[in-house]
Amino acid sequence: ASTAATSVSVSGDISSQLHGGYSHPLARSWQAERQLTKSMLIYPLFISDQDEEEALIPSLPNQHRRGINKLVPHLEPLVRKGLRSVILFGVPMAPNVKDALGTAADDPEGPVIQSIRLLRARFPSLFIVADVCLCEYTSHGHCGILRDDGSLNNTLSVDRISDVAMAYAEAGAHCVAPSDMNDGRIRAIKLKLIEAGIAHKVVLMSYSAKFSGCMYGPFRDAAGSCPSFGDRKCYQLPPGGRGLARRAIHRDIGEGADIIMVKPASSYLDIISDAKEIGKDMPIAAYQVSGEFAMIHAAAAAGVFDIKTMAFESTEGILRAGATIVVSYFTPQFLDWLSS
Ligand code: PBG
Ligand code: ZN
Repeated sequence: ASTAATSVSVSGDISSQLHGGYSHPLARSWQAERQLTKSMLIYPLFISDQDEEEALIPSLPNQHRRGINKLVPHLEPLVRKGLRSVILFGVPMAPNVKDALGTAADDPEGPVIQSIRLLRARFPSLFIVADVCLCEYTSHGHCGILRDDGSLNNTLSVDRISDVAMAYAEAGAHCVAPSDMNDGRIRAIKLKLIEAGIAHKVVLMSYSAKFSGCMYGPFRDAAGSCPSFGDRKCYQLPPGGRGLARRAIHRDIGEGADIIMVKPASSYLDIISDAKEIGKDMPIAAYQVSGEFAMIHAAAAAGVFDIKTMAFESTEGILRAGATIVVSYFTPQFLDWLSS
């Protein structure tokens, strides 16, 4: 027997020896329950009613508002690299198009319905999600129809929002995703989908746990959806409201949601984990929102960290918390990073 072999203590505690298990890059990747893959990513697109527009959004790095004529050239290389899904946000820019009812939201000639049709025809493998809300289209910028006192009229709002969801579904959206936070809209949309005989082919993704806070600013710049008075605190959830989020998740599952979304992501990882626990039999999505994305860019520009490393680290945290779907402005970059 060699002296080396006899010097090894076999009686000592070997459970403390962890390094070997992650000594190789591949072995490190095996430590994750879920690897980030291209099919988990949904890429947000802002589509304006100015057909030729291609405008950089100053507060949202590398993101553009595009007219319908700029959409296919932008997406072609991304689809070639493995882009599987987009979420569409309509941005009416034409003067006087906004009103109290958000009439432009389901205009058949409007940018969302037109781009659903275009993308279905041009990219048969692309999964198209339509965000459903009124705030981009209402003159007051709130996510529903208002009473005289400025508060949301929930009944009228749910009626209207479920009609808009139906219009997107009937135009060919694979998934409708109401982000308005009115009570009961999941049930109303599901019932209308059933009644129209298309419930079997449309995914209903609920922004169930959507928190109010300061993380949506760049999005509102992009979409022109800043409320003209007040805030969204009476319909989006208070940041400390974990129990309320759990109730909203339970409620939306009961109302027929197919996917539960949590938003924002990084400050709400406990909520993602709650969603995974409550909705253990369903897919959980998380939205790394505009403010999170802009914050990562700002910190990288200040030399705090490398942006690619942080894009992965923040997204891996979201997956670890329990999400299997991530709405991310990093999607185009991930398509490159996940190929190499
Ligand atoms: C609209 C909507 C918002 C976002 C998605 N849908 C903004 C808001 O509620 O004001 C935010 C997305 C982001 O910040 O990236 N209801
Ligand atoms: Zn809204």
